Formats: sequence, structure tokens, C-alpha cells
Amino acid sequence: MEQHIFPMRLDKYLADMSVGTRKEVKKMIRSGRVAVDDSPAAAPEQKITEGMKVCLDGQPVIYQRYVYYLLNKPAGILTATRDRHKKTVLDLLDEAAGKNLSPCGRLDLDTEGLLLITNNGQLIHRLLSPAGHVAKTYYARIRGRADEEDIRRFAAGIKLAEDFTAMPAQLLIRRADAISEVEVTIYEGKFHQVKNMFEAVGKPVLYLRRISMGPLKLPDDLAPGCWRPLNEQEMADLALLQPQL
Ligand code: URA
Repeated sequence: MEQHIFPMRLDKYLADMSVGTRKEVKKMIRSGRVAVDDSPAAAPEQKITEGMKVCLDGQPVIYQRYVYYLLNKPAGILTATRDRHKKTVLDLLDEAAGKNLSPCGRLDLDTEGLLLITNNGQLIHRLLSPAGHVAKTYYARIRGRADEEDIRRFAAGIKLAEDFTAMPAQLLIRRADAISEVEVTIYEGKFHQVKNMFEAVGKPVLYLRRISMGPLKLPDDLAPGCWRPLNEQEMADLALLQPQL
């Protein structure tokens, strides 16, 4: 069900839009830098309703309900919102505070690569729902020589448990050697699925990195641990999956 976010306190409005921390935006309001509907803002607790115009130093601050970040998850960071002992992917995003963000799917502690982080729960559901069949591609280094038989077995659907056979997956061999380099595309996301699939063909994963999810690709210039908001093209590509984005 659609939740109403307005009316909202002015200081929350500005802090949500990453103009500053709650403390900083209170100072900005008190020093007269913020206007609401062209009048100087009265106080941090002033209520903003839908359609009101908020400006900081004369520049409009438009409220965006949903935010979308693309993170290159490094190894050693937990895919969770918070944890008492380990650093999480949300700890890496300095803009995360107060935004109710969640990672879209889970990468193992030692897996690197593309992770979408958003507060749009419907989009997360669309990307992760097994019925959605959204493609996820991983680059992997595996122990053993990848061969045609592996391609055939991945394409046929590998039995991973008594009651679970993986959906057909595509395997692309980039380098076949004692340690092989491959790309694998799967359309579901069971726990440790890629590792378990390679384990099943006797070629354990040594390194794993997610390089795409649906229309999103891991950018070459985004180093592990770095993140950025989705760009317009990425937003447009996602909107094809979820028109009300
Ligand atoms: N499959 C795995 O085995 N691990 C991951 O982190 C992601 C997919």
C-alpha cells in the first residue's frame, strides 16, 4: 500500500535529500538560508506538505522519495543493513542514514561486485522474485579446466539437492586452464547458488564477482568499495522493468 510521507518536518525533508545532517540543516534554517514557498522558513519543525517549494540559498531542493545507489561490494563486507560485529554494505554509504535503504539481494562475504541499494521495496521485489527471472551474471575463477560438458550441464539445470534443481544457466568459458575463468548467468538466487553449481561439477569457485543484474552492469571505473547514484540511463533501463519507478 502507498504510504503517505507528507506532511514532513522541514529539517527531515532537507536531511533526507542529503543537504546536510539533521544538525546542519537546523543551522541552515535558523540562519535564514532556507525558504518555503518563497518565504523564509520559520523553524526546523515547520511542516512541509505535498507541492510546497523548498529552496536552499535560492536553489530548489526537490524531494525524491526513492533513492538508488550502485555499489561495487568489496570482499569482507556483509550484505546486510546492520550487524553488531561486521561492517555492512550500508556502512560504506555515507549518505545512507535515515533513508531506510536495503541491499537488493545478497552477496556472500567473500563475493565482490554489483549491488543495488535502494529504499524502493517494490523494485527490490521485482528484481528478486523467482517469477521475475531477472538475469544475474557472475565472473568466476574456478579450480579445474572448464569444458563443453560443464556448459551442457549448466544449460540442462544442475541438481543441487534432493528437492532442488537449478534452472538452466548459461556458462561462457573465457579461459580454460588449471584455473579457469568463466561467466555464468543465472535467473534465480538461492543461497550460495553459483558456488554450489560449480561444486556440483567438481570445480570449486576461487573468486566470484557479480558483473550484472537485469539491465544494470558493474561499471569498469567503480572500484571495490566505491558507490554512486544510478545515472539517468540506468534509471530508464530499470523503469522498463518497473514502470512506476
Ligand atoms: N552465488 C554464490 O554462490 N554466492 C554469491 O555471493 C552470489 C551468488
